[in-house]
Amino acid sequence: MPPPTTPPPAPLSEILLSLIFPWRFILISLSFLPATIRSLPLSSLLSWPALQSAWFSRFWAVAGPQVREGAEPRVVPLLEGRVSNGRVVERGAAHVPGVGGTVLEIGPGSGMWVSIFSDRYLDSSTSAVATGASSTSGASTTNKTTTPAVGSRSRVTRVYGVEPNKGVHPLLRAQIAAAGLEDVYEVVPVGIEDLASSGRVAPESVDCIVSVLCLCSIPEPRRNIKELYGYLKPGGRWFVYEHVVRPPSQGLFMSLYQRFVNIFWPHAIGGCNIQRDTETWLREAGPWSDIDLVHPPDEVWFHTLPHVIGILTK
Ligand SMILES: C[S@@+](CC[C@H](N)C(=O)[O-])C[C@H]1O[C@@H](n2cnc3c(N)ncnc32)[C@H](O)[C@@H]1O
Repeated sequence: MPPPTTPPPAPLSEILLSLIFPWRFILISLSFLPATIRSLPLSSLLSWPALQSAWFSRFWAVAGPQVREGAEPRVVPLLEGRVSNGRVVERGAAHVPGVGGTVLEIGPGSGMWVSIFSDRYLDSSTSAVATGASSTSGASTTNKTTTPAVGSRSRVTRVYGVEPNKGVHPLLRAQIAAAGLEDVYEVVPVGIEDLASSGRVAPESVDCIVSVLCLCSIPEPRRNIKELYGYLKPGGRWFVYEHVVRPPSQGLFMSLYQRFVNIFWPHAIGGCNIQRDTETWLREAGPWSDIDLVHPPDEVWFHTLPHVIGILTK
């Protein structure tokens, strides 16, 4: 086997563009503020959380699809159970099944990942490819209910989407309808900190938790991540794609730069905090039988928002 080759150093222009990215993102978000202010009644303008939620909804309607485009090559295989040690692996090579059964999706926002839960997606991405059959049309409801689990992704029977920002609900519901999931996907209009009192989801009742780019935005993350652990059945899986803190041990310059960006970023990006040690809090949430959670090995050192990706099994 040939020895692993060291990738060539990135061009300076690429590094600079990457460093500029957070400021461009903040500027794009700021461009939605005037229209948000004009659209709100005075009572909402006087409440920062209300203004921030409305502002984020407008911004994410445009930014969400772009973020999805960038994250899709990792998140789709992740939810299919095709990510191992941070790398996408062939169907059947993964040791953990993909998303299926009863699912708790945290902070779905405008529903960027909803389609992945549908049988239609399952059909076109796995069974049709695997069998060479043509993909089923939206009308084939009978087929869908009888479709067995195929590939590494089993059928999703129920999804609870825990999303407190009502401003994103119309787009989220549109995605649910487009995926044909009206009978499967229930929007729970509270934050995860209020999930227990909502009485919608019982402890140890869900097969999977999906958190994609949302644990950066929840309150009291350490406590609430532990609380979410309690909803997983024994053997349940938590699918994670989150951006996390860059500690000084991973490069002092980028660590300090991230800290500087984070002075401004949360105010403009709906309360998103880019300095969270989410990986540690997930690992500490409770006893896991298996943890496959790493930084994507192909992620560059000059990314201001480094990620962790993987699956934790209870
Ligand atoms: C950056 S967005 C990501 C949305 C979506 N996961 C995606 O990838 O497009 C973060 C989401 O977390 C939601 N969020 C904020 N606080 C939350 C809480 N306490 N509980 C659940 N979700 C929350 C926000 O409303 C927002 O929709």
